[in-house]
Amino acid sequence: MNIAILGCGTVGGGVATIIREMNKELALRSNTEMVLKTIVELNPDVASERFNIPPNLFAGGGKKLTVIEAAEAIDQIITSPEIDLVVETIGGTSDFVHDICMRIVKAGKHLVTANKALLAERGCDIFEEAEKHGVKIGFEAAVCGAIPIVKTIKENFTGDKILSISGIMNGTSNYILSRMQNEGLGFENALQLAQENGYAEADPALDINGGDAGHKIILLIKLAYGIDVSMNDLAITGIENIKKEDIEFANEIDAKIKLICYAKKINGDIFATVRPMMVKNSNFLSGVNGATNAVRVNTKYSGKHILVGKGAGSSETAMSIVSDMVFIARYGEKMRNTAPQQSLNFADARQFVFPYLITFHTADLPGTTGFITTAIGSRDINIDTVSHNRHQGEKATFSVATMPCRLEQIETAIEKIKTERPGMLLSEPKVMPILY
Ligand code: NDP
Ligand code: HSE
Repeated sequence: MNIAILGCGTVGGGVATIIREMNKELALRSNTEMVLKTIVELNPDVASERFNIPPNLFAGGGKKLTVIEAAEAIDQIITSPEIDLVVETIGGTSDFVHDICMRIVKAGKHLVTANKALLAERGCDIFEEAEKHGVKIGFEAAVCGAIPIVKTIKENFTGDKILSISGIMNGTSNYILSRMQNEGLGFENALQLAQENGYAEADPALDINGGDAGHKIILLIKLAYGIDVSMNDLAITGIENIKKEDIEFANEIDAKIKLICYAKKINGDIFATVRPMMVKNSNFLSGVNGATNAVRVNTKYSGKHILVGKGAGSSETAMSIVSDMVFIARYGEKMRNTAPQQSLNFADARQFVFPYLITFHTADLPGTTGFITTAIGSRDINIDTVSHNRHQGEKATFSVATMPCRLEQIETAIEKIKTERPGMLLSEPKVMPILY
């Protein structure tokens, strides 16, 4: 199997390293010799030094390439009958990368990629073309790096019904939250360390605003339930607004704040959301720290399963890419790219039932707590606990933990407070599901 790698950064460089270091084992495991024919990279000098790759393996013999030269080298790979499988590790959702992937599959070549953003946002036609041309798309690396969740859902639960998938699917945000909660580090410091460790996306906003986690849950929903969900339809909240006081409220209810992806099937409806949640310390996910990811799959016949591992990093993510290459070499003809399409409804996340923690910043006036809790009760929400008020000058902050209810009920309660007591709320209340 002749292989080309496009983009030799953190992940692509890791792939080149594993192919070179494990060449004999890979040949035995796949019954095929895996030959790394060429790598296209804009700055081969950097990649060559970082991953100890001989310069002559790079298109252009190791000299820096302009974007145009790289595009020409990629064209040669796509049109070359010699190349069987292309690894795309440039990343991003640009027309350029989308077009490359389309042309790879149209040319009858297998595609292996870690690019969750591309597959989740613009992947439908790439999957369609791959079907038409009988080629395979490996994307184990696109969801939670080293954790074999794609194959687990696609291959191992075919004899079961998946009731829900939940978990921590973004290493950078989990790293930031862990360091903020466990060591009191500031947000910016923690983000910088995550970037230095190679966990963050080229655009770290995607890690922080929940976009990257959203891409991953969209791909898992596609595999588990056979429906395509767009980023616009998915309810996503990131971690950008998590403050020290939220961490204090979490401590007060024995919980840790985690960015959680949650998808659940209820009859013919699929509910899904990505948002920071108060994860009770009794829940396994509360103890998953750093860049580690953890995915829980709850099924009808076999119960609960948890996969934990490294969700990002060079060799970790590259391992999943190389495993996909072996899988394609072994089972290519029989392998399915995704799951059969189903006609399920993607439901409004505002109808998703959770217990919630709502944090209110208010004017510090008599009757405020009473008015707010009464407004919550008027929307048929049963309150579990109310925290003490933190008084700061003329302001007060407190939180309300509810029994399970719909987000929509909370939103209408907040609307009632805003309408009937303008000025009572000093900022938009923060609403986080509580995960037991
Ligand atoms: P990097 O930025 O480290 O690597 C991308 C590489 O592609 C860079 O070396 C870049 O060159 C090169 N490149 C950019 N444009 C071109 C071009 N036109 N032609 C050839 N090469 C080009 O990103 P990562 O390796 O971290 O990520 C790659 C993909 O893997 C992304 O889709 C990401 O979401 C995904 N991923 C990453 C994980 C991680 O832990 N890092 C984990 C899971 C998935 P240069 O920078 O020299 O300009
Ligand atoms: N930026 C991603 C993360 C990389 O932090 O999880 C792995 O997909």
